[in-house]
Amino acid sequence: MKKSNRYLTALAGLMVLSVALTGLKAQQLPQLGKAPVKQVIAAMTLEEKVNLVVGTGMNIPGMSQGGPGGTVVGQTKTLVDGAAGTTFAIPRLGITPSVVADGPAGVRISPTRDNDNSTYYCTAFPVGTLLASTWNTELVGQVGQAMGNELKEYGIDVLLGPGMNIQRNPLCGRNFEYYSEDPYVTGKMGAAMVNGVESNGVGTSIKHFAANNAETNRNSLNVKVSERALREIYLEGFRIAVQEAQPWTVMSSYNYINGKYASENYDLLTTVLRKDWGFKGYVMTDWFGGKDAVGQMKAGNDLLMPGTPAQSQAILAAVKEGRLDVKIIDQNVERILNLIMQGPRFKQYANTNKPDLKAHAQVTRQSATEGMVLLKNQGALPLASATKKLAVFGNTSYNIIVGGTGSGDVNEAYSVSLVEGLQHSGLSINENLQHMYDAYINAVKEGRPKHQGLMALMMGSTPIAEFGVTENLATSMAEVSDAALITIGRNAGEGRDRSAGEGDFTLTVSEQELLKNVTAAFHAKNKKVVVILNIGGVIETASWKDLPDAILLAWQAGQEGGNSIADILTGKANPSGKLAQTFPVKYEDVPSAATFPGKELPSNEPKDNGPMSFMRGRPAEDTYTDGIYVGYRYYESFGVKPSYEFGFGLSYTTFEYSNLKLSSPKFAGKLTVTVDVKNTGKVAGKEVVELYLTAPAKKLDKPAQELKGFAKTRMLQPGESQTITLVIDARSLASFDPAASAWIAEAGSYTVKVGASSKDIRQTATFTLGKETLVKKESAVLKPAEKINELKASR
Ligand code: BGC
Repeated sequence: MKKSNRYLTALAGLMVLSVALTGLKAQQLPQLGKAPVKQVIAAMTLEEKVNLVVGTGMNIPGMSQGGPGGTVVGQTKTLVDGAAGTTFAIPRLGITPSVVADGPAGVRISPTRDNDNSTYYCTAFPVGTLLASTWNTELVGQVGQAMGNELKEYGIDVLLGPGMNIQRNPLCGRNFEYYSEDPYVTGKMGAAMVNGVESNGVGTSIKHFAANNAETNRNSLNVKVSERALREIYLEGFRIAVQEAQPWTVMSSYNYINGKYASENYDLLTTVLRKDWGFKGYVMTDWFGGKDAVGQMKAGNDLLMPGTPAQSQAILAAVKEGRLDVKIIDQNVERILNLIMQGPRFKQYANTNKPDLKAHAQVTRQSATEGMVLLKNQGALPLASATKKLAVFGNTSYNIIVGGTGSGDVNEAYSVSLVEGLQHSGLSINENLQHMYDAYINAVKEGRPKHQGLMALMMGSTPIAEFGVTENLATSMAEVSDAALITIGRNAGEGRDRSAGEGDFTLTVSEQELLKNVTAAFHAKNKKVVVILNIGGVIETASWKDLPDAILLAWQAGQEGGNSIADILTGKANPSGKLAQTFPVKYEDVPSAATFPGKELPSNEPKDNGPMSFMRGRPAEDTYTDGIYVGYRYYESFGVKPSYEFGFGLSYTTFEYSNLKLSSPKFAGKLTVTVDVKNTGKVAGKEVVELYLTAPAKKLDKPAQELKGFAKTRMLQPGESQTITLVIDARSLASFDPAASAWIAEAGSYTVKVGASSKDIRQTATFTLGKETLVKKESAVLKPAEKINELKASR
């Protein structure tokens, strides 16, 4: 062999050896799921770790360059188009990406994909507010199960929901995504939803943690709140969900709490959430939330979403310069990896992209009827069997609002309007009136610009104003129809709060005219008028509720909404929903009306009117002077009469409560309450049973009563009874005493009130607690630097 040949042979040999060694090395590299997580982390480079704690970015339609943090590139599109984000894949260590998608009312992805003829529709389920109005945690769990199945079949690992912020003020634009003004209802609904979704082996992200109760300046609003109100009202629902359902993830909120961004707040995300409550999953930011990536890492905000290069650079530099201990990154990485491993994508689940949308349509149709609230009924509903021809008024009778706008919107395959629902039920509607509405709605739509830009995409298009229904039109319709339906619709969503004025909280002049003229004309002919509210949040009702014969609060009921409403109107379903929020007489009665949505602070920054301005906001603050007196806690304690109280809702039947019994007149750790509920009417129905507690208020100021338990009966036939059992634990007795950093139950007499609403109390009983009890000590954190002047009830 020539010298040169020997050289080449040796070289080739070396290359083979080196390839073999590399292969061996690859084989020896710890693989996620096979090797212990800590070993996988030890094998990661610093860059890989940083990549994992910062999402892979996001495609923003119409924007080639950057979100607020810099240039972002989207990887999500290639995995599940239209999902909200993805974590970074590291194939050499077996780390798959994890895909996250909105949102609370159903999975939000693109219904179509480039160069692909298939469709990827998801079910639009009822909004969170409607689900809470069912007061049926089992049912909410079933909705969650169906939603989780769609998540899994579309190849998504984590649902960005449920939304669990407190409906502090009726005008918050995102209230439809949230459950209630009450933390107990919120917590129980959230836990049921998390358990339902996660039963599919996919995750949830309870959001937005915490005190994100307004959309105006949402990224720059400083919420100034007392520690007691924060813990009793704004954190309590999250605590219940964490402890009863252990969600995979929590999403931190955009706002500041007492001067600190929620996502940069160690006390909130680590001390309270993890150490005090025992949360085991990971925390992700809201999209582009917070400012200081390094601060977020240190706070225990494990994952920054959707992720920007600027955040990665900041974290990398901080570790290299010794400002951020790599151990913190390791811990955050570990929490993320632990859950990536649980996801269907990591487990190589062969998703079908074909969830059973037909079956889920049934779930949404049925759950929606259970959350609709019958607010008034003077012999109008269910519609008499002789009612065949209906005059149907109001734009949203023809164009139903399925759910709110923004990330909580779902791309459903179809929606059933009210008129379609009525027709499916065999009722006929006045076609002349229908043509009038169709022509009007189409003309308004055609007059609008075709491309409405990112703002409209996020916030939905402007509602179509009602045309004035004249006395003549109403009279001619009354002559040829058996009854009238009038739908009043409202929509709202992310990035903007609602207004207290006409066309939003209050009715427009044309809506008032519509109600006045139609009720006058139909009543003159002895015919009934039913108002249907297709709304996502509370509106003013006191000024007009005397006019119609019945009012059905249908909320935003999901894609089968028209069928669900028709089921109730015809009596196929008996309404059993009750309000999980108060309908005040007027906006000024709301305890936070004076401060919501916060005041802007002096700033030199120029006002930003660009397409992303709703993500930037102006420096602003909202001082929660209402303290713990949110919702019925306020109305009941301060003697302010609402239009419809918390917990209210009628049925086509009646229920009698009797035989309230406590397991003991003295509290010793736990107490069982039983009560008999009997259907005393003529049709089968379900009843929501509410338990309120009035606690002694010697040491701490206390609301007149607080909800501490609820249950829904099974379907009771006429004459049938059920014994309801509810448990009062020590925590139910306790209020948070900031001076002691603890939940304290005061000694004295407690009154148990069991009823059909917060005002309609049917049975009471008392028990005593012998001596003051420290129920739970908390870490001494979350104390505002300055004193917040709050409402106090005198009792
Ligand atoms: C919303 C979140 C949502 C996220 C991803 C944000 O703007 O506040 O609720 O999950 O976007 O779409």
